[in-house]
Amino acid sequence: MPLSVDVVFTPKLLSSSRLSGKTVVVTDILRATTTITVALANGACSVTPVLTPADAFHFVDSTPIALIGGEREGIKVNGFDLGNSPREYTKSVVAGRPVVLTTTNGTRTLCACRTAHRVLVGCFLNLRSVVDCLKRVPGKIVIACSGREGSFCLEDTVFAGACADALKCTAGNLKSDFQVTDAAEAARILYHEYRRDLIGMLKMCYHGKHLTDVGLGGDLAFCAQTNVIDIVPRQIDGCIIA
Ligand code: MLT
Repeated sequence: MPLSVDVVFTPKLLSSSRLSGKTVVVTDILRATTTITVALANGACSVTPVLTPADAFHFVDSTPIALIGGEREGIKVNGFDLGNSPREYTKSVVAGRPVVLTTTNGTRTLCACRTAHRVLVGCFLNLRSVVDCLKRVPGKIVIACSGREGSFCLEDTVFAGACADALKCTAGNLKSDFQVTDAAEAARILYHEYRRDLIGMLKMCYHGKHLTDVGLGGDLAFCAQTNVIDIVPRQIDGCIIA
């Protein structure tokens, strides 16, 4: 059983002391970590998160078989193979291919967490597997929410609360001395508020409305699926593998 769980609401609050020696789960429910999880479950060899479109094009110069994916303002970047909709990352498209991905918030958070002891990738689709994995982690856990351009976002926090809730329940059953920070407790309360209607929560939140406005509302129900994928992607030396 781990020692504690903390939640960091935005990447701006990530500091080396909050990451050092910790197991960090990075989440960006809409949509980067959902897309990464789906791509790897469908057979992509790896996903490399990068900060800018220029970095992504540079990566493909040295790895020509790579697919280049991502978004700005939710929309596929000119010249990319794929956008950031998890529905695009099907077996027939990604199996056997490395992917390089750049998104507004999610890949930025992944890059910012590189110094953590262990970096995992979570979303509702692999929630149970992430929690099962975290239950076996001996140290301190941080759930890092990607937020939206430096601000708090509801959907990542609800996911963080789901993880904190499952860990707290397990600790209670085992009567273990497990610490839940105030931030993790607040996330847990939000999870309890929305857990029965994740799709409704995604439709109502700021970024969900934006995706609907740009014609990508179909991604919301997809990203709200729970426990349909059993891999837990892990970032090692800047590259995410299943
Ligand atoms: C992000 O990283 O900000 C997102 O995943 C945005 C999106 O594609 O909807």
